[in-house]
Amino acid sequence: STSSPPESQTQPQQLAAAEHGLESVKRKLCRLVASSLSATVPGLDVEPMLEESKAGFGDYQCNNAMSLFSSLRGSSDANFQNPRAIGQAILNNLPPSDIVESTSVAGPGYVNIVISSDWIAQRIQHMLIYGIKTWAPTLPIKRAVVDFSSPNIAKEMHVGHLRSTIIGDTVARMFEFANIEVLRRNHVGDWGTQFGMLIEFLFEQFPNWEEVGNQAIGDLQSFYKASKEKFDNKESDFKVKAQQAVVRLQQGEERYRAAWKKICEISRNEFESVYKRLGVELEEKGESFYNPYILPVLEELTKKGLVTEDKGAQIILIEGQSALIVVKKDGGFNYASTDLAALWYRLNVEKAELIVYLTDVGQKLHFHKLFSAASMAGWLPDQNEYPKTSHVGFGLVLGLDGKRFRTRCTEVVRLVDLLDEAKSQCKAQLIERLTENGKIADWTNDELDRTSEAIGLGAVKYADLKNNRLTNYTFSFEKMLSDKGNTAVYLQYAHARICSIIEKASKDIDELTTKASITFIHADERALGLHIIRFQEVLEQACTDLFPHYLCDYLYSLSEAFSKFYTSCQVVGSPEETSRLLLCQATAVVMRQCFNFLGITPVYKL
Ligand code: ARG
Repeated sequence: STSSPPESQTQPQQLAAAEHGLESVKRKLCRLVASSLSATVPGLDVEPMLEESKAGFGDYQCNNAMSLFSSLRGSSDANFQNPRAIGQAILNNLPPSDIVESTSVAGPGYVNIVISSDWIAQRIQHMLIYGIKTWAPTLPIKRAVVDFSSPNIAKEMHVGHLRSTIIGDTVARMFEFANIEVLRRNHVGDWGTQFGMLIEFLFEQFPNWEEVGNQAIGDLQSFYKASKEKFDNKESDFKVKAQQAVVRLQQGEERYRAAWKKICEISRNEFESVYKRLGVELEEKGESFYNPYILPVLEELTKKGLVTEDKGAQIILIEGQSALIVVKKDGGFNYASTDLAALWYRLNVEKAELIVYLTDVGQKLHFHKLFSAASMAGWLPDQNEYPKTSHVGFGLVLGLDGKRFRTRCTEVVRLVDLLDEAKSQCKAQLIERLTENGKIADWTNDELDRTSEAIGLGAVKYADLKNNRLTNYTFSFEKMLSDKGNTAVYLQYAHARICSIIEKASKDIDELTTKASITFIHADERALGLHIIRFQEVLEQACTDLFPHYLCDYLYSLSEAFSKFYTSCQVVGSPEETSRLLLCQATAVVMRQCFNFLGITPVYKL
């Protein structure tokens, strides 16, 4: 009955489960279906095909019958004469379980499964007592490298790097929640030929550059632009000087090293302020960090017979693709040589079992070639084993004109300006709303400021994360700052409203959590409950496929399920108040956990 204590109080072994994380509903059902399948068709190794029901017959449906029928065609067994009979057999062989309330066969042989309402209620209450971490997915790895953000020194940190930063942070947060140790790596482009030009320009502009403060050098982006102009100017001898500077830097000449360090430091300070504002933590191991490893790694690859010479360059032939150049004609190393060394380091020194790279889809081929070379070298085992590498690509950010996102004054949108704009629009909106509602007097300017920063930055992040990352998306302040539809602003309001319902009841929620229990009376109440417990399987899938938009879709439909519930079920002052308050609390807890994955700071007062 629903008044029985939550699941972990019933048996001591379930307490242990609370520490290690529980299995998701879907996983549990898959195991039931798997066991039924091996009883139904012994000896056949069939993967359970289970999905959320769309038809409304049950909560989940098993679709194995139809495909089993095609593979068993011609069998003389009376059970296998049509898909429906197979469906019935699968149903009959389902082991009894307290998760399942009822089952039925529908249509051509779908097996519909209805989850026990008591079980749903107990699962939610268990989470409220032991915390949302009990819903952490179990993934087969302990340590991962997430290579993200990775801007280039002195070049601008553009929206592409913003996507990498935002998506990468979400991936890292999901992994961390799943108890994986994450090495958050910023593979900063702090090495390469552009430094010759920058250093030479620094020497020219600031003859006593050692003494001038970073401030004087100012905006590195304009610095880069000006030096590039000079570099491209055919009349001057600057280009030659810049090329000599690269050599001197690479040979380790002190004055050049010091200048390089200074330029990196200025850039780093700029990046840091953006990360700080976005609430993103990263550890910088830039391209230069891997320099000492390049030679030995290339030696190993040469010994293994992978490296060949081609018109003075050293290359690795990749099946079906152009070769991977690992040493340029002039003897210099490149992006690929560094990435090989970095991969070697991550596998052998950092002992990562999964290495994830976040860049735009334009670099897909580069990573394909890199991973192929690593496989040929025997660094990576077969596809289904760890360690694994994965390139998580994403599309472009487009402006309202459908072209690559840019602003009028600068060529590429500067990140800080973009965040400032989001914030100030949010603030204006908030002030207008509060004034209309006569609540503006309750707010201090500081509160207004912090709230607009949280909503504005959350809106920018969410507008990015809610899209399938592989597609391009259009950057629109108007859309992302709307308080209607699938936006962070809408979700912030939805969450704040739930919190205010709970507050209005003025009950001790912690006490209710352990003393009262959840009961479903109305169908919308149960639907919300079922949606809440699905959190775990959605997260599991998002971690496996590395698609943050699964979380956004889930979050939005969760708030819709809540709205539906709140429209049909009175909470405060109703006979079901305590149970419903617990459901409100569980919704808010799950929403905040999703906000956390997405890097959104929840706002309570709105
Ligand atoms: N700095 C590169 C860029 O801006 C991204 C680096 C990605 N990481 C890597 N290990 N290659 O395009």
